[in-house]
Amino acid sequence: MTNHDSPPITQASQHWRSLWSLDPTVTFLNHGSFGACPIAILEKQQVLRSKLEAEPLQFFGVELEDLLDTARQALANFVGAEVASLAFVPNATTGVNTVLRSLCLPISGFTPLQAGDELLTTNHEYNASRNALNFVAQCVGATVVVAEVPFPIDSSEQAISAILDKVSAKTRLVLLDHITSQTSLVFPLKPLINELNQRNIDVLVDGAHAPGMIPLNLAELGVAYYTGNCHKWLCSPKGAAFLYVREDKQFMIRPLVISHGANSPRPDRSRFHLEFDWTGTTDPTPYSLHS
Ligand SMILES: Cc1ncc(COP(=O)(O)O)c(C=O)c1O
Repeated sequence: MTNHDSPPITQASQHWRSLWSLDPTVTFLNHGSFGACPIAILEKQQVLRSKLEAEPLQFFGVELEDLLDTARQALANFVGAEVASLAFVPNATTGVNTVLRSLCLPISGFTPLQAGDELLTTNHEYNASRNALNFVAQCVGATVVVAEVPFPIDSSEQAISAILDKVSAKTRLVLLDHITSQTSLVFPLKPLINELNQRNIDVLVDGAHAPGMIPLNLAELGVAYYTGNCHKWLCSPKGAAFLYVREDKQFMIRPLVISHGANSPRPDRSRFHLEFDWTGTTDPTPYSLHS
């Protein structure tokens, strides 16, 4: 939308506008796709980037771990999770792929996805996550089952029964958006997860839009896997997201990129954190910022 369509600019809106880099000639309404980061945060990120470039060895080798731990603690408080269950990933797409690809791995103590298994999702699932689900299903010969959740919808119960009706003895995983991308539904996760946990079926939640939009308490939710973006409604720099993996599932979830953490002898940190905290050289400043 261009500004000739916009409401009059007041002093207050001019002030708020000045805090962001968004083009003032455009009324930018789509915060949901990629978020927008305030100038003050970008400046703070630049300070961190300058430190990194001034002394890369000191930054990556000495300082980064503490920065990640401090940011992780702040994130854990915000999303109601144990620090031990949180890993940083660059985006929710990576979080979803990480879990789905891990479920195919031959890891001791876990039966990987196999031919005949069913992976359940809904007709509201975000296209990229649905593609990841289709890809993994094709790789192992599993079937993607789609629950048709009506839209518009009258009640949470309609969503719950549409999803539970599609559960079978072959269902291995349910992939749900927390807030659906195209239709803005907030799925009733708590009763769904309670019911599915009782049937020993794990849930992977794509919560790309949830952090900063609705309150979260991941530990209370009892979910096995949850990924969320910080660069959408939390207004973090782009490339800031997290993957929550409940502690009993961490042994079988590996990052998409295997690096030094896989054979680290360090006894002071979990394999989960060692592996996810280093997946090769990248710019870690989007998720190592904290106040
Ligand atoms: C439900 C859902 N999942 C995943 C994504 C992808 O987010 P990202 O590109 O940050 O991975 C989006 C983006 O809008 C989304 O709406």
